[in-house]
Amino acid sequence: MSAPRAAHITGWGHYAPEQILTNKDLEKLVDTTDEWIVSRTGMRERHVAAAHETTASMAAVAGLRAIATAGLAPDDIDLILVATLTPDYPMPSTAALVKEAIGNTRAAAMDVAAACSGFVYAYATAHAYVTSGLASNVLVIGAELLTRFLDYTDRNTCILFGDGAGAVVVSASDAPGGALGIELTTEPQGAYMIWLPSGGSRSPSSGETVARNEHFIRMEGRETYRFATRTLASTALASVRKAGLQPSDIDLFIPHQANIRIIEAVAKGLDLPMDKMFVNLDRYGNTSAASVPIALAEAVNSGRIKPGDRIVMVAFGAGFTSGAITLEWTADPARGLAGEAAVNPNDVHVRAPVDWDSVDPIPAALAELMRRPGGPSVPLDDVIPDEPRPATAGATQT
Ligand code: ACO
Repeated sequence: MSAPRAAHITGWGHYAPEQILTNKDLEKLVDTTDEWIVSRTGMRERHVAAAHETTASMAAVAGLRAIATAGLAPDDIDLILVATLTPDYPMPSTAALVKEAIGNTRAAAMDVAAACSGFVYAYATAHAYVTSGLASNVLVIGAELLTRFLDYTDRNTCILFGDGAGAVVVSASDAPGGALGIELTTEPQGAYMIWLPSGGSRSPSSGETVARNEHFIRMEGRETYRFATRTLASTALASVRKAGLQPSDIDLFIPHQANIRIIEAVAKGLDLPMDKMFVNLDRYGNTSAASVPIALAEAVNSGRIKPGDRIVMVAFGAGFTSGAITLEWTADPARGLAGEAAVNPNDVHVRAPVDWDSVDPIPAALAELMRRPGGPSVPLDDVIPDEPRPATAGATQT
């Protein structure tokens, strides 16, 4: 097989569960206020998966929508990558479940674990597979069901995260475009700044680990914030420079949607106005590996991206990891809405195990909240900008 010159995004799609959890809802659970959450994070509401949904089911819907947008059939995909920190099970991979759910019979499938940077890492992997000639069409999905891994007595974390999935199809092309510059970094000294203690070989799940709440995400918010503001802009800048461009050449940044103040810091660090930053965290919260592909799909479908535009997808996450891809957009944006409409989530099913059912998957405190009606989406208008420092392109290349 001869290697193509480029790997283009030919399809994109996303999925968000119907149920909405507002800041006001969270006020009923922990000692917080809508005002605090909006001013410190920019978030107003987030989506919460229903009991019958899993990471794989959301991933499959987003993936099928991306395949429909690309004008392909599921069997045209020869590699499936699912970036997630909330897999359905430690094994099998969520990607294997997605492969079956979308009706693909021929792809290799595997998960990518790089926390919130996972989609960017998976995209870089897809690019390498396609440009080396090892694959022609790669389905890259970021999917998370974080609301089942949160301690609803911990106001530092439970207000931040939401559920959803986003996907792209990366296809071989001999035309110019696609990824122009890729930067990935990993800084393990931050490994325990965001972590989930139990369920792995160091501390297998047991009654004792559950009693110690070790099955929930733990986070040092301030340290993570410092890492993010320092690294996100420098990683983006390194990727832009590898593409032979300057930040002012970029039409739109698609940053990880962790905190509006972090995104403000990226804009300021790159000396760019906020209208170069796509923001939807007010409606989604932080959906970890799903945040960049959800934002990308919304940006394209809302007319913010057109052929010839240069965009940067940039993320940071537990590890600490960060990654940025500078790319030239080539696909017809009009295809996106039709692709989204082509797939009804009720028609997508992930096969359940034989003779086994899970316990009620939704934490009791959250289940109680979900019985109440959700609030409406409201525009992002009163966030408080931070005072970030300028970025430098000093990140470590891996
Ligand atoms: N409501 C009200 N008060 C709160 C809340 C809340 N929900 N959460 C924390 N506070 C309090 C704290 O207890 C603290 O009180 P104290 O001064 O009496 O001790 C005060 O607010 C200030 O706390 P900080 O942690 O300094 O608040 P900060 O402005 O840093 O905002 C936040 C906290 C939003 C968590 C911020 O640090 C942040 O966004 N960090 C990055 C988090 C992130 O991006 N995580 C995802 C990583 S990606 C991944 O891989 C999963």
